[in-house]
Amino acid sequence: MAVSLDEVQRKSGIIGDSEPIREVLQTIVQIAPIDISVLVVGESGTGKEMVAKAIHSASNRKFEPLVTVNCGAIPAGIIESELFGHVKGSFTGAEETRKGYFEAADKGTIFLDEIGETPLETQVKMLRVIEQGEFIRVGDNKSRHVDVRTIAATNRDLGEDTRRGNFRQDLYYRLKTVTLKLPPLRDHVEDIHLLVERFGLEFATRNDLAFRGIVPEALQLLRAYSWPGNVRELKNMVESIMALNPSQRFTPDMLADHVPTDTFRGNQALPVIVDKLPEQSERELVLRQLLFIRQDIHDLRQLAIGRPVGDQPVDPYLPTPPPGAVKPGTGILIGDVSKLETRPLIDPDAIGEVTMEELEREAIAQTLAKFNHNRRRTAEALGIAERTLYRKIEAYGLEKK
Ligand SMILES: Nc1ncnc2c1ncn2[C@@H]1O[C@H](COP(=O)(O)OP(=O)(O)OP(=O)(O)O)[C@@H](O)[C@H]1O
Ligand SMILES: [Mg+2]
Repeated sequence: MAVSLDEVQRKSGIIGDSEPIREVLQTIVQIAPIDISVLVVGESGTGKEMVAKAIHSASNRKFEPLVTVNCGAIPAGIIESELFGHVKGSFTGAEETRKGYFEAADKGTIFLDEIGETPLETQVKMLRVIEQGEFIRVGDNKSRHVDVRTIAATNRDLGEDTRRGNFRQDLYYRLKTVTLKLPPLRDHVEDIHLLVERFGLEFATRNDLAFRGIVPEALQLLRAYSWPGNVRELKNMVESIMALNPSQRFTPDMLADHVPTDTFRGNQALPVIVDKLPEQSERELVLRQLLFIRQDIHDLRQLAIGRPVGDQPVDPYLPTPPPGAVKPGTGILIGDVSKLETRPLIDPDAIGEVTMEELEREAIAQTLAKFNHNRRRTAEALGIAERTLYRKIEAYGLEKK
């Protein structure tokens, strides 16, 4: 009998009410009962192992074993004997005949974690067992048969590995037929409060503490952060804060060691754009970023003419202080200061020639250069998603040479 989405969520412990997480749960519900191999992809800490377990538990094989193999943790020299078993005397130290993981998973599910790390020569044998259920123990000459469902996971780009010749194309095509893509946490920040609550309550229960929640400002900080380590990073953070501040409500100052608390302060001046197409919102954010660059130019100009910066409204069109305000020897400006005063961001001669795309490319190129090609910081500074930035870097050919 098919299971429901709520049941999968409850049993698996996968937390989240956002659209991306509901889609993941819905896919699990759909594919779990079908005996087909599944590839789970997603960045580190997004819950790939959790999802693999959820698929097995919601499948018809749930009363049979789920065998987890970390393909990246087994040395290349012994991986085949671990996966397929070996016969006594087949190599030095093989004192007993032993079953491999595939045989141990017979009738059940095998979870091949970090599949991208599997040595090429082993991949061909893996394909055979996944496709036909056939394998040969190391040192044996007899082909054996198992009935195993495969779930594989990776945080690598297997398509790219295949193009580079590091991963077999046939195995890749076989695995990717059903691909379950897990969202990075930054794409479902609306789930953060649920996750914090769950991890907080769990930690409190284990350690006989109270969990008192989180103040809204602190939650906003967590939502503004990019979470490169995803849910795992969030979980570790919650536990560390609770250990250091037992039974206290989470406040922004407790987060300072974990997330950049100035991200929020920098961004809160940004108006929130709602009800707009993503492309449109991104364009507006890029344009706003251009405005910030203009403000920077203004600040620099003020510095150059010896005026304090910061305690006055930042307006590039402020009245011009007389050029004589530049003290001899301290100015960094060369030429006529008055020319700079009303200099617009776009050269007037270029108006009518310059397109939005060119402006966007320029903003991205300059911001990348400023942050030394650190994509996370660049995306943050431009106020766009890292994924969008990647796409645009590729589209505009801005990859670091
Ligand atoms: N949606 C979620 N709800 C609850 N806990 C989650 C969720 N996603 C991840 N976790 C928790 O985060 C931690 C990391 O999850 P998991 O080990 O499944 O990630 P992973 O994708 O396999 O990471 P890696 O690629 O580093 O192996 C675990 O403690 C898991 O319980
Ligand atoms: Mg994992």
